[in-house]
Amino acid sequence: MCGIVGYIGKEQSLPILLNGLKALEYRGYDSAGVAIGDKGTITIKKAVGQVKVLESSLATDHPIQGTIGIGHTRWATHGVPNELNAHPHSDCKGRIAVVHNGIIENYKELKTYLENHGHIFRSDTDTEIVPHLIEDFLNKRNNFDSALFDALKMIRGAYALVIMDAENPTTLYATKRSSPLVIGVGNNENFLASDPSALIGKTKDVIYLNDGEVATITSENISVVNIEQQKTSFEIVRLEWDLEQSQKGNFPHFMLKEIFEGPEVVRSTFRGRIKSEDNLVKLGGLDQVRDKLKDTKRILILACGTSYYAGLVGEYLFEEIAGIPTEVHFASEFRYREEPFDEGTIAIVISQSGETADTLAALHKAKEYGLMTLSVVNTVGSTIARESDAGVYNHAGPEIGVASTKSFLSQLTVLVMIAIYFSKDKSKTQLILEELEKIPEKIEKILAQSELLKKLAEKYNHYEHFLFLGRRYNYPVALEGALKLKEISYMHAEGYGAGEMKHGPIAMISPDFPTMAIVPHNSVSEKMMSNLEEIKARKGTLFAIATEGDTTIASLANDVFYIPKTIEPLEPLLTVVPLQLFAYYVGTQRGFDVDKPRNLAKSVTVE
Ligand code: AGP
Repeated sequence: MCGIVGYIGKEQSLPILLNGLKALEYRGYDSAGVAIGDKGTITIKKAVGQVKVLESSLATDHPIQGTIGIGHTRWATHGVPNELNAHPHSDCKGRIAVVHNGIIENYKELKTYLENHGHIFRSDTDTEIVPHLIEDFLNKRNNFDSALFDALKMIRGAYALVIMDAENPTTLYATKRSSPLVIGVGNNENFLASDPSALIGKTKDVIYLNDGEVATITSENISVVNIEQQKTSFEIVRLEWDLEQSQKGNFPHFMLKEIFEGPEVVRSTFRGRIKSEDNLVKLGGLDQVRDKLKDTKRILILACGTSYYAGLVGEYLFEEIAGIPTEVHFASEFRYREEPFDEGTIAIVISQSGETADTLAALHKAKEYGLMTLSVVNTVGSTIARESDAGVYNHAGPEIGVASTKSFLSQLTVLVMIAIYFSKDKSKTQLILEELEKIPEKIEKILAQSELLKKLAEKYNHYEHFLFLGRRYNYPVALEGALKLKEISYMHAEGYGAGEMKHGPIAMISPDFPTMAIVPHNSVSEKMMSNLEEIKARKGTLFAIATEGDTTIASLANDVFYIPKTIEPLEPLLTVVPLQLFAYYVGTQRGFDVDKPRNLAKSVTVE
C-alpha cells in the first residue's frame, strides 16, 4: 500500500504535504516524493527512503513555493525502490503529475501502445502510464477533462489516483477503484489522502469517494461525477479519530486489521495473474527464466517460521498439481546440509520481509550449489528479492503486526499459482483457478463470524497448553495455528500431524490440555474422526474447525467453528483464518500487545 496526499488552498503546500506523508509512513516508505504547482509550472522532487530523507533534501533557504501540490510514499509493487520509480510521475512534457496507490493490471499493453506513439518512459512502474496516457489524449484534442476521462476508461486494476495539470493550476483531480482515497474538506482549502490519518489537525470533515467516481477539487469547490461524467451526490462525514487510531482504521490492532485484509490481499495477489481463458497463470517475474524452469525435476523450499509452514503447503501443491518432487527445509538448517543435488533441482525461498538472515544464508548456499533460485517475497527490492534469480512478489502491502497473517494467505496464493505455472496437466488447473477466485468471499464469510470466535476464545484463554492437529494440507496449518497462538498469547502450543498423535503426544491429553482439530470434510475426514474419538476417550477437551453442514463433528467436539467448503489444495486459505483470529482474541484477552509480542521482531535479520 502506498500513501497519497494532496493540497489546494491558500497555504504553502510543501509543509502540509510532508506532514501528511509522515502520518502515512505505516503504509510503506521505500521512497517518497512531492509535486508542487506554481505559476503554471510543476516542480517534482523525490528521494529514496523515509519521508525525512525527502524532507532534508528540500530543506533549503528557498523552499519550493506553491499552494497546490501532491505527495506520495511508496510501497513498491512494480520496479525496485529508487528515485526514478518513486512517485509523482509525469508525462513527456512535464505538464501532468500523478501519484498512485494500487496496481494497474493492463499497464504493459498500455505502455507498449504509448511507446509506439513516441512517449518516453523514465521508470519501471505501472503508474507512469497514467500521465502519458492523459497526454496522448490531450495531444489529440487539447481538452484536459475529456483527456482525463478517456484515459481513465482505458485503465484496468486497482487504483487511487491524484492528478495535477500545470495548465489548470488551481485544480486537483482525484479518482479511485478498490484503493482507498478520502477528500478532506477545509475552509477555503481542501485536502486528499489515502486515509484520514494524514488529515489530523487539518480537518475532520471528509468525503469518501466511491469506486469509479472522479472528483474535481479547487480551494473553494468540490464536484464529483461518475466515469460517464454525470454528477453524483456526496456526503461530508465528520471524523473523531486520533492519529494512531486512524492508521488502524476501525481496528484496535494492526494484527486484526491485517487478518480482515485477508480477502483483499488474496485478490490483489492473484489480480492480473490468472488467465482463466486457458486455465493458466501469468507470473511475469518467472517469464525471464521460463526456459530454465521447464526441466525442473525437484524443488527445494527454504524458509523460516510462518513462511516455512507456507512452504509445507507448497510441498503438497507442487507434488499434486505440478507432479514435481518437493522438499521443504528450515532455512536455518539447510545452510548446514551437504546434500548431493542433481541437475534440474531448483530452490524457492519464501520470505515476507525479504531480509531474514537465515533465509538469505540458505539462498546463498543454494546459489553456491549452482541451483536456480526463485523467491516469493512481499517487500519489493528487498535483499532476497534482489539476490534470487527470479521471483514472484506477494502484493500484500506492508504487514505491520509482528505476526504474519495476511502475508501467509498471500504466500499460499502465490504457491498455488506457481504450482499451476509448473503443471503440465492443465485439466486440474481450471477447477483450482475457478475455486481460487471464490476464496476471498469465503474468507469474508469466516470473518463475518469473528464475534463467535471471540466468545469461544474466552472459554479457552485460561489454558496453558494446546495441541493443534491436522492432516495433509492441514498439517502445516496445525503447525501455523500453534505458532500464532504461542507467539501472540505466550501459551504453550504444539502442532502435530494427526496421525502422529498416537505415537506420543496423546499421552499429554487431559481435560486441561485442549486440542484444536482441523477437520474439514475431505479425503482424510474419517481418519481425523478416529483421532478425535481417541481424544474424547481420554476426556480431552476438543475444539474443531469443520466444514459448514458437517453435523457429525458436533457429537464429538466441545466446540465447533464452521467454515465454507472448498477443494483440498485451497483448504489452508480458509482453515488458517479462524486460527489467526483465535490467537488474536486469546492474546488480547490475556492482556498482551499482539502487535508487538515480547522477544519478537517483524524481520529477524540476525542469525
Ligand atoms: C510469524 O508470525 C513470525 N513473524 C515469524 O515466524 C516469521 O514468519 C519468520 O521470522 C519469517 O519471516 P519472513 O517471512 O519475513 O522471512
